[in-house]
Amino acid sequence: MSRERLAALHAANAFDAAPLRSVMHRLHVPFDELTGTTGCEHRLLTSVQARHRVALVGISGSGKTSVTESVLGPTVEGLAPIPVSVSVESPDIATHPVAFAGHVVALVRRWVSAGLPREAGRVARLRDRPGATSQRFTIAPSWLGAKLELGTELRQATADEPVSSGERLEQAAQLLAIIEAHDLLPVLVLDDTDRWLNLSWQPDSEAARAAFFGRVVRVLAEDLATAAIVAVHPTYLRDPNYRAAAGFLDTTIRIPALAGPAAVHRVLARRAGLALDEPEDAALSGLLDPGAVALLFEQYRAVPDLRQRILQVMHVALTLAVDERAEVIREGHVRAALTETVIDPD
Ligand SMILES: Nc1ncnc2c1ncn2[C@@H]1O[C@H](COP(=O)(O)OP(=O)(O)OP(=O)(O)O)[C@@H](O)[C@H]1O
Ligand SMILES: [Mg+2]
Repeated sequence: MSRERLAALHAANAFDAAPLRSVMHRLHVPFDELTGTTGCEHRLLTSVQARHRVALVGISGSGKTSVTESVLGPTVEGLAPIPVSVSVESPDIATHPVAFAGHVVALVRRWVSAGLPREAGRVARLRDRPGATSQRFTIAPSWLGAKLELGTELRQATADEPVSSGERLEQAAQLLAIIEAHDLLPVLVLDDTDRWLNLSWQPDSEAARAAFFGRVVRVLAEDLATAAIVAVHPTYLRDPNYRAAAGFLDTTIRIPALAGPAAVHRVLARRAGLALDEPEDAALSGLLDPGAVALLFEQYRAVPDLRQRILQVMHVALTLAVDERAEVIREGHVRAALTETVIDPD
């Protein structure tokens, strides 16, 4: 029985270390619950509701996207998250405010045209192709789908390509105002700053950081006056460019670290419960030795990277257990998985 359950977890890829963004909120166990405080998800929600620009600080894999997706997820009323991803676009977007504003407008334009029946079909076909990810194709967010009139107004407002820089910024501000007039608070989400600012296509990453924090973040505050969430790597906190821009970010929230093996177990149990379609507290019962969880936590305590130090290792440990037709994932499986998993030093 346990053997079949482990095989089912494996077949469902229950411990997927890099799940699609669109399902992340379901996998998320709030850090506030895990730590018994209100300093993470609750604070993020109240901060964006107060129109703050929030720096969400954590190392890669610590949970910044997961927290953002859970707080801005589909169940939150009254918010209009606008995820601004630039990883496949021109690097100018991260460094030039006007290019950034133009990018936001182009994004909304794509959403509203994807809402037209013919386009929507094309986007859905592209999205369903093998290997497609939710980030690669623009899919209109649910807050837009629910409001027909808003779509029409946004389509009109994005129809023109303004020429001057001032007009471009104005057009972006106008879009945000239209969204707000429909009782939704726009929240710009800049979740992959690390990729924009460190990638090799930014030949001078120091200058890129100066421009992003000094000019783009400033425009968020002064020209667009919008709520925003900016994911920030902790090393940036010491960066003079970041520090110079800190005045334009109203709130800093650090992703908390899981305090012990019990919290690790809960994160894993949430996934097992969803994969097996069972209540969370029963899903892992008898399948995972406490020693295995303790060893996972030890790895995580050294570097709090949930993606690599918990999920990736757990995924390999599960594979090893299933391969040897074991009934339980034991400490030995985790230990063997650690030798197979290449862990990047952060
Ligand atoms: N509180 C949590 N509950 C459940 N799963 C979590 C939690 N936090 C993070 N995860 C999982 O850990 C993995 C890494 O999280 P996430 O992608 O949010 O990290 P990140 O800080 O955004 O990393 P990066 O800087 O590389 O983008 C994901 O698989 C995510 O689902
Ligand atoms: Mg992320």
